[in-house]
Amino acid sequence: RESERASMLAVNEFALKHFEHNLYETSDGRSIGLSYFYERGLNDSVIKKFRLGYASEQSTTLYNEAVSKGYSEKYLIDTGLCIRTENGRVYDRFKGRVTFPVLSVSGKVVAFGGRALKKDIPAKYVNSPESLIYHKSNQLYGIYQAKPSIVKKDKCILVEGYMDVISMFQSGIENVVASSGTSLTEGQIRLIHRFTDNVTVIYDGDSAGIKASLRGIDMLLSEGLNIKVLLLPDGDDPDSFSRKHSSTELEEYIRTHETDFIQFKTDILLQGVANDPIARAKVINDIVRSISVIPEAVTRNIYIQECSRRLDINERVISLEVSKQISALA
Ligand code: CTP
Ligand code: MN
Ligand code: MN
Ligand code: MN
Ligand code: MN
Repeated sequence: RESERASMLAVNEFALKHFEHNLYETSDGRSIGLSYFYERGLNDSVIKKFRLGYASEQSTTLYNEAVSKGYSEKYLIDTGLCIRTENGRVYDRFKGRVTFPVLSVSGKVVAFGGRALKKDIPAKYVNSPESLIYHKSNQLYGIYQAKPSIVKKDKCILVEGYMDVISMFQSGIENVVASSGTSLTEGQIRLIHRFTDNVTVIYDGDSAGIKASLRGIDMLLSEGLNIKVLLLPDGDDPDSFSRKHSSTELEEYIRTHETDFIQFKTDILLQGVANDPIARAKVINDIVRSISVIPEAVTRNIYIQECSRRLDINERVISLEVSKQISALA
């Protein structure tokens, strides 16, 4: 299995170089792929830093190249770079797409994402399947590039997607990783925790993004992380938002708009129901449940005080409810 893993990583590495080469050295790569990235505002420096590429529209360009260089079909299929149809035909999964390699924390190419360039293609993104070398739930897009900055700033910014990571990185915010669409997993959270205790979640400013933030909050809290949340204006994601603002504005916006989870939950959940006592009670219970998952008593207490101030409820009442919830969970 070790040698199988090595063979899969090797063919992924080959594919990465092949896609990178296409992007700058072939005329389709330049006129279709590279110009797509330029239109989305990326510069050569981040394109190279994130090792972006282009997969030709022909069905077997990668397949032919790889096989002619001695890579075996088995590993092309095991990694998901190529797909075998029921009638035995083999074709390139990422054909006609720009490519985003997913690098592990140590810089190995474990997977790819490929983005469609045309609007009428059914899947906007396709991704490598789970495999011996790729367990999506243990990877974070951008971790390899972000690691030094996460350590230096002792803080990690968590976003949804590939372009969010790259645009923010280009805007000078380098401590950024993406959960890549799926809901955040424990493995991803532990990966962040290896480098810092502090996380700011900046998901898309739409209802899906808000739901995902609410879901992520309790998971991050139970891991003992300090968490802040930033809600973008409706319709924006970190990519579109960074393109509308200068680096300084972006940094300033994050600094002044990131809030603790209690404020985030209060703002979201009390929208429109602020004076309804039953609705308020529900919100308080929701926040109590979040506070209860925090492993450390001191931190819990700080949030109990915060909750008391913000919702104007007696601290001892909240404290009692948190204790009840903790015993219920135990
Ligand atoms: N995603 C995916 N497959 C899809 C849609 C989304 O894997 N069909 C993942 C990708 O990692 C994507 C992330 O979920 O980056 C966030 O999805 P979304 O917000 O819909 O896409 P954006 O990242 O905003 O993509 P773009 O800006 O390129 O349109
Ligand atoms: Mn810690
Ligand atoms: Mn989204
Ligand atoms: Mn998005
Ligand atoms: Mn986007």
